Amino acid sequence: MSEQRFFRFLQERIGLDVDSVGAPMVERALQQRCVAVNASDLHDYWLRLQQSAEEQQALIEAVIVPETWFFRYPESFTALVGLAHKRLAELAGERPLRLLSLPCSTGEEPYSLAMALLDSGMSPTAFHIDGIDISPNSVAKGVQGVYGRNSFRGSELAFRERHFHEFDDGHLLDERVRAQVSLTVGNVLDPALSSRNGDYDFVFCRNLLIYFDVPTQQRVFEVLKRLTHAQGVLFIGPAEGSLLARLGMRPLGVAQSFAYVRQPAATPSAPPPIRRSLPAPAAPSRPMPAAAPVSRPLRQAPVAAPGAAQRESESELLACIARQANAGDSVQARASCQRYLQQFAPKAQVYYWLGLLSDTEGDARQALTHYRKALYLEPQHPEALLHLAMLLAAQGDEAGARRLQERAARAGRESER
Ligand SMILES: C[S@@+](CC[C@H](N)C(=O)[O-])C[C@H]1O[C@@H](n2cnc3c(N)ncnc32)[C@H](O)[C@@H]1O
Repeated sequence: MSEQRFFRFLQERIGLDVDSVGAPMVERALQQRCVAVNASDLHDYWLRLQQSAEEQQALIEAVIVPETWFFRYPESFTALVGLAHKRLAELAGERPLRLLSLPCSTGEEPYSLAMALLDSGMSPTAFHIDGIDISPNSVAKGVQGVYGRNSFRGSELAFRERHFHEFDDGHLLDERVRAQVSLTVGNVLDPALSSRNGDYDFVFCRNLLIYFDVPTQQRVFEVLKRLTHAQGVLFIGPAEGSLLARLGMRPLGVAQSFAYVRQPAATPSAPPPIRRSLPAPAAPSRPMPAAAPVSRPLRQAPVAAPGAAQRESESELLACIARQANAGDSVQARASCQRYLQQFAPKAQVYYWLGLLSDTEGDARQALTHYRKALYLEPQHPEALLHLAMLLAAQGDEAGARRLQERAARAGRESER
């Protein structure tokens, strides 16, 4: 197929695994670019692509997924605040904290980090944040600092009042926050980046690895590990965890924060310890956005419609599970999940939570069983698909992982439609 060479180009240049976004999405981008440069056909476009760095960048812009918003996965920001104050105390004035957001897309993630730290009372001189993304367009938007409705999601938007000014149709981020962040264009696969030594105390790399195949994920994890200080913490996306254990990183144990630290050097390949309870993240001195109960809206049970009283207690119990897990209390969260399953019809979301709790504690076998049950109840449950894929990949079942990733990508496309 003549598209294959474009797929290879994208794989080599930005790590994109075409299956993860689906060939039709890339084919649409190719058509768009053909029209834009007046290419007679794909072969003609290929020749132009070879001759023009500018066109190469335009094609990359056409295929990237810049989707992001402020305080995405709120628990991780709550966790960061506690960890950052602790790390700052350890550094004892030796230097400011260094944070990295890679990829930063249009800036919402690094700016959320800055807002969280400033709101926690941290001095602006105590930290600096670098944001890197492959897309010059996204970085330019981030530098501008003007954001529309899509960047503000959920109901906890008090930070907008504190840090933004109304501006035309959107909101302009206050200079005080912008000054904390430097945004630059860069590629995570660039050897210059991978040869940089890590002195970042906190590295955020979220929602990038899902677009890579397993070998590229492994390569990028090595880079991320190098960029993270020996005493630092790496934050990843919810579906991106399992491979890290193989690379000598272990989950920090803060529920829903997806934070990893280096293993002690003597036990790089030991499985992460099974924790009996998860430490609660330190509370910030000013209110943070409330933790979202789950990473996507809870759905109704798939069976018989319950009565009003039952519905209320069912939703109370679900909210309770979310609260307990978000507070780091995995024992209580697990008990509440079991209570739920005794009282109500089996629910994919609850098995997904159980899987996540086991996964965070390093119990891959249990996590596998729970994710499988979630998928039995709801075959397209996107997070269960992705988490199970990562677990299989970590266990060396790359074909199984790929099948699930493809299923998740298909499910995502269908739900978008
Ligand atoms: C979905 S956004 C994630 C943004 C943010 N981390 C978040 O979780 O909200 C993915 C970003 O990855 C960037 N990207 C894709 N390939 C990249 C690469 N090889 N190096 C750096 N950034 C890349 C894209 O430009 C896009 O902005």
